[in-house]
Amino acid sequence: MAERVRITDVSPRDGLQNEPLRADGSSIPTEDKARLVRALSLTGVDEIEVTSFVSPRWVPQLGDAAELCKLVTRSKPLGLSMSALVPNEKGMQALLAANESVGMKLIDKASVFAAASETFSRKNTNATIAETIERFRPIVPTARDHGLAVRGYVSCIIACPFEGVVTPEAVLAVCKQLEELGVDEIDLGDTIGAGCTETMAALLACVTSEIDPARLVLHLHDTFGRAAECVRVALAMGIRSFDGSAAGLGGCPYASTETSRAPGNIATNLLVRTIHDAGYETGVDLEKLAEASRVAQEITAGAPA
Ligand code: HMG
Ligand code: MG
Repeated sequence: MAERVRITDVSPRDGLQNEPLRADGSSIPTEDKARLVRALSLTGVDEIEVTSFVSPRWVPQLGDAAELCKLVTRSKPLGLSMSALVPNEKGMQALLAANESVGMKLIDKASVFAAASETFSRKNTNATIAETIERFRPIVPTARDHGLAVRGYVSCIIACPFEGVVTPEAVLAVCKQLEELGVDEIDLGDTIGAGCTETMAALLACVTSEIDPARLVLHLHDTFGRAAECVRVALAMGIRSFDGSAAGLGGCPYASTETSRAPGNIATNLLVRTIHDAGYETGVDLEKLAEASRVAQEITAGAPA
């Protein structure tokens, strides 16, 4: 039997966070976001990254995290995980309050996010790498107390939009700090899609020299159309968990520079097809995924570029 690979669709979070507000200052309606989550919940993906409990001043598009949770309580079949980003204790408390208000552990994983580049860390979280790690320290035991898993992201694993090349050793150093905090999994983010087969292989060789590949997730943006080849390299090196985004939406607003908007994630359908073609199983229904991608496109259509 083919080996199973785990798929997380991050489109409701990474996909939508970079969508500009409409001309009247409004965000994508919460009901539309719920439609996307519902469509994804039917596809067979293992996890949906539903939203972010971050400051609405920093990410106005996702200021409705708690309301969205209320609209998707019936869209969590057995075995489907739902996660959300939390940058600090305030975000963690907001996540717990959202779960409490719906009377269930709807969000079962809290995802903290650090970076391997100091400039990106400051731009994204107004904190140094060391300060972000300290912010996460109390989040992990709180998550444990409430039976939640914890994902730790490391952004800029290949390159930073402001500093350029990031060394594998710098990435490994942050991975080790997250591991020491006690996160369940470490998600390696190629934030600007800079990776190619050679750099991805070098990065993964370095990280897996000290971190068990079974605890790693790969989160690729697809700027230059090289994400699929990076998936193949990662599969060969033992990675069995990947993030994708319906319709390839996505990008971190704080990875955009004056001349270029942050690139989208690898489309989940390309990710899944690449994994199937390499001889692995995912449990994802490609037709239902196509329908979810259609919803993702529909709810973002008409948004200013
Ligand atoms: P700060 O301004 O230093 O925070 O931002 P602060 O503690 O000084 O608080 C400032 C205000 O924000 C206060 O409000 C706080 O209450 C409020 P005021 O009193 O001024 O009205 N605040 C919050 N409100 C709601 N929820 C919260 C929260 N925290 C503070 N959790 C902070 C620091 C971390 C909050 C800010 O920088 C932030 O929210 N950053 C998030 C940026 C973000 O979401 N980026 C995108 C996600 S990361 C990503 O996309 C990469 C990834 O996809 C992987 C990859 O591709 O590499 C994961
Ligand atoms: Mg991302």
